Amino acid sequence: MYLEIDHVEKVFPPRGGAKEVKALDGICIEINKGELVTMLGPSGCGKTTTLRLIAGFEFPTGGNILLDGKLINNVPTHKRDMSMVFQSYAIFPHLNVYENIAYGLNVQKISKDDQKRRINQVLEMVHLEGFETRAPNQLSGGQQQRVALARALVMEPKVLLMDEPLSNLDTKLREKMRFEIRQLQRELGFTCVYVTHDQLEAMVLSDKVVVMNAGKIEQIGAPRDIYRYPKTKFVADFIGRANFLNGIIRNVSQNELEIEVEGKTIFLFDPRYVDFNAGEKVDVVVRPEMVHVRREEGKFEAKIIQAAYLGESIEYVLDLNGKQITAHETDPARLDIIPEKSNVKVSFIENCLHVLKA
Ligand SMILES: Nc1ncnc2c1ncn2[C@@H]1O[C@H](COP(=O)(O)OP(=O)(O)O)[C@@H](O)[C@H]1O
Ligand SMILES: [Mg+2]
Repeated sequence: MYLEIDHVEKVFPPRGGAKEVKALDGICIEINKGELVTMLGPSGCGKTTTLRLIAGFEFPTGGNILLDGKLINNVPTHKRDMSMVFQSYAIFPHLNVYENIAYGLNVQKISKDDQKRRINQVLEMVHLEGFETRAPNQLSGGQQQRVALARALVMEPKVLLMDEPLSNLDTKLREKMRFEIRQLQRELGFTCVYVTHDQLEAMVLSDKVVVMNAGKIEQIGAPRDIYRYPKTKFVADFIGRANFLNGIIRNVSQNELEIEVEGKTIFLFDPRYVDFNAGEKVDVVVRPEMVHVRREEGKFEAKIIQAAYLGESIEYVLDLNGKQITAHETDPARLDIIPEKSNVKVSFIENCLHVLKA
C-alpha cells in the first residue's frame, strides 16, 4: 500500500456564530501505487476536505495519513511531492503556456535544459505541442485544463490530486477528457486521487471508487462491484438507479435464496448471500434495466403509469401493487411502446437482483 488514510477525522472549529463541522468522521482508504482512486459523493460529503488533507493544505484532527510507509500528518505541503489540479484550473493569466508549466520547475531551481526536456515531454502528453507561446485567454476551456494537467504532471508528483477537474467543461469534451486522463494515467502509471460528484466519470476512470456520504465512507470497490453489489441503500441509489422492493427470505440453501416479493417467489443464485436467514426481512434492489415489461407473460401484474420513448430505449413507470417502479427496456425487437394505463406483466432478470438486510 502506498497512500494510507487511517481513521482520519477532520473537525472545523466553530467560527463566527457557526457551529463546528465534522467534515470527516474517521475515514479509512488504502491506495496502491499506480492506482486511480475516485472519491464520489454528493456536495458537502467531504471529498475536497479529504484531498486537501492528503495535499497538506489542511491537517487532520484525528487519525493518520501515511505515504510510502511514512507518517505525513504534519509534513508541509511543499515537502509532500504532490500536485493538485483544480476545477478552476488556477493557471496564471499573465504567463503563457510554457511559462505556466515551467513555474514549479523554476521554484525548484531545475536547470533550463532539464526544464525544456520535461516541458516538451508533457506538452506532447497532453497534445499541446505548438501552443507554448499562447496566453491562457487564447485557449479553450479544454486546452486550459490540459495546461493545468501538464503543469501538475511536469513535477512528477508522487501522487496527483484532482478536484472535479472537468466540471467546467461541456458534456462532449468532458467525456473525451475522461478517457484522455485515464489513458495517460495507465501509460504513465502515476498514483491519482480524483474527486468527482459524477458517477459516470467515476465509473470510467477508476480502479477503485470510494463512495462517501456525510463525512463517512459508505463503500469502497471496483466500479462493477459497487454497481452490482452495493452495500447500502445510499450506494444503490447514488450509483445508477434503483427500485427497492420489500422482501422476506423464505428459504436459504447452499447457493440459493428464495425470496417472497409482493406475493411471488423469486430466486437468487449467488454464494455471497449465504449469511441471510429464513424469515429475515430484506430490501430487494431492482435496477430499471432488470425489469421486463410485456403484454402477455411475466410473474407480476402491473399497470403502466407513464411510458416515454427515448430513442435507444423505452422508460416505463409502473404501478406494481401500489408501488411505483421504473423499467428501462432496451430490447430493440420490442421497441413498440405499450400505452399508458395498459395492464401488463412484469418480470425481473432475477439472477441480477441484489438484496440488502432491511
Ligand atoms: N474551512 C472550512 N471551515 C468550516 N467548514 C468547512 C470548511 N471546509 C469545508 N467545510 C465543511 O465541511 C463539509 C465538507 O466539505 P467539502 O469537503 O468541501 O465537501 P465536498 O467537496 O464533498 O463538496 C461541508 O459541510 C463544508 O461546509
Ligand atoms: Mg468539493
